[in-house]
Amino acid sequence: MSDSSNIPADVDEIEIEIEKIVDGGQGLARRDGLPIFVPRSAPGDRLRVTLVERRPHYARAEIVKILEPGPGRREAPCSFFESCGGCDLQHLEDSLQTELKVEAARETLTRLGGVELPERQSVVRGDAWAYRLRTQLQVLPGEERSEVGYHARGTHELVSVNRCPVLVPELERQLGGLPRQLAGEKLHRLDLLASADELSAAPPVAGMSGKEVTFEAGGFRYRLDARVFFQGHAGLLDELIQSVLEDDEGESAVDLYSGVGFFTLPLARRYEQVTAVEGDRVAVRYARKNVRLNKLQNVDLVSTAVESWIGRLPEAVDRVVLDPPRVGLTPKVRVRLLDRGPKRLTYVSCHTAALARDLKILQRMFELEGLVFLDLFPQTGHLEIVAQLRRRPGNETV
Ligand SMILES: C[S@@+](CC[C@H](N)C(=O)[O-])C[C@H]1O[C@@H](n2cnc3c(N)ncnc32)[C@H](O)[C@@H]1O
Repeated sequence: MSDSSNIPADVDEIEIEIEKIVDGGQGLARRDGLPIFVPRSAPGDRLRVTLVERRPHYARAEIVKILEPGPGRREAPCSFFESCGGCDLQHLEDSLQTELKVEAARETLTRLGGVELPERQSVVRGDAWAYRLRTQLQVLPGEERSEVGYHARGTHELVSVNRCPVLVPELERQLGGLPRQLAGEKLHRLDLLASADELSAAPPVAGMSGKEVTFEAGGFRYRLDARVFFQGHAGLLDELIQSVLEDDEGESAVDLYSGVGFFTLPLARRYEQVTAVEGDRVAVRYARKNVRLNKLQNVDLVSTAVESWIGRLPEAVDRVVLDPPRVGLTPKVRVRLLDRGPKRLTYVSCHTAALARDLKILQRMFELEGLVFLDLFPQTGHLEIVAQLRRRPGNETV
C-alpha cells in the first residue's frame, strides 16, 4: 500500500524517534511528514519498529527494539503488561503518564474542538496502583478450571492473570481462586465490584453473590451492584464530585446520564429541584433507592434514553450536568442544549475526542470557563475531563 513517505513499499523495519504521546496513549513519530503511531512508546525513544499498517495519511508500527529509551521510560511493574491489553502506559513513570495524557488532551481539544483553553485549569491525580473498584474479566469456561483474565492487546484472545495490581486489594485477591470457582460455569464475562470488604459479581457465581455494596462519597451513601456503572477510582470519588459541582447553587438542575445518582445526590443538596435522566433501568432503581437512603425529596428520576427526554428540557434551567458514555452526545441532544440554553453546563467526559467534537458545537452558545483533568485511569491511556461552561451573555437562543 502506498503512503506519503519515502519509505519503499518493501521495507517493513525502520528507525524512528518518538515526538510525543497523542490522545489515547500511543506515541507519535514522523517520517517524511507521515505520522507513525506506536503503542507503548515514550517521547524521546529511539526505536526500531516494524510497520504493521500503511495508509495514505498515516502508519502504525510495533516496537522491535528500543535503541535508546526516552526519559521517564521504565520496566513495566506488572509481569502481564507485555501480553495483557488492560494497560497501555505502565512503561512510563506514574506522574509522567498524567503529564503526557493532559498535554495530549489539551492538544486534541484545541486542534479538533477549536477550543481556546481557559485560564482556569487543574490536574487531579490519586494513587496510580491498587485504585480500581471494578473490573470486567473475560472467561474461557472449563470443567476442572476456567481460564480468567483480560483480552490480549489488540485481539480477543484471553490472557489469564492471577494478579492485576491496578485493582483494589479486595478485588485483586479474588483472581487466584477464580479459575476453580468458575469451573463448570458457562459464562464468558464476569463483572466484579468491590467496596471495603463487600463484593458484588455479575452474573452471581458460585461463592460470589450479586449483592449490593455501599460506597460513601461527598457525604452521601450509594448502594449498587456490579451490573451498573460506577466511577472506578477508589481515591478520587470526592474530588470528582467537587470538580463537577463546584460551589454553585440555584433553583433547577438536570443530571443527564445520571447512573445510580452519583452527581444527582450532591446536586439535590444545592438546587431546589433536580431532574435526573438515565437509560439503564437497573441503575434508575438504585438511583431511586439512593435518593431515599439520603433522605432527599426534591429529585425527579426519569427512566428513559436522554434522546427521548431531551425535548422536555425546560428553557434556561440553572444547571445541566452531562456525563455521557464514551461516544459523547448525539446531534439531537446537542441541538436541544443550544436551543434551551441552560445557564451553566458541566460536561464530564471519558473520551477527549468526543468531548472536543461536542465542545466545537456547544461553544456557539456556551463559553468554556474551566477544565479539570482527572487521572481516573492510571496505567491506561484514558483520562477524565470535567468541562465547565456558561451561557454567553446575551445569548438566549441560537
Ligand atoms: C459514564 S456513565 C455516568 C453515570 C453517572 N453520571 C455516574 O457518574 O455514575 C454513563 C451513563 O449513561 C447511561 N446511558 C448511556 N446511554 C444513554 C442514553 N442514550 N440515555 C440515557 N442514559 C444513557 C449509562 O447507562 C450510564 O449509566
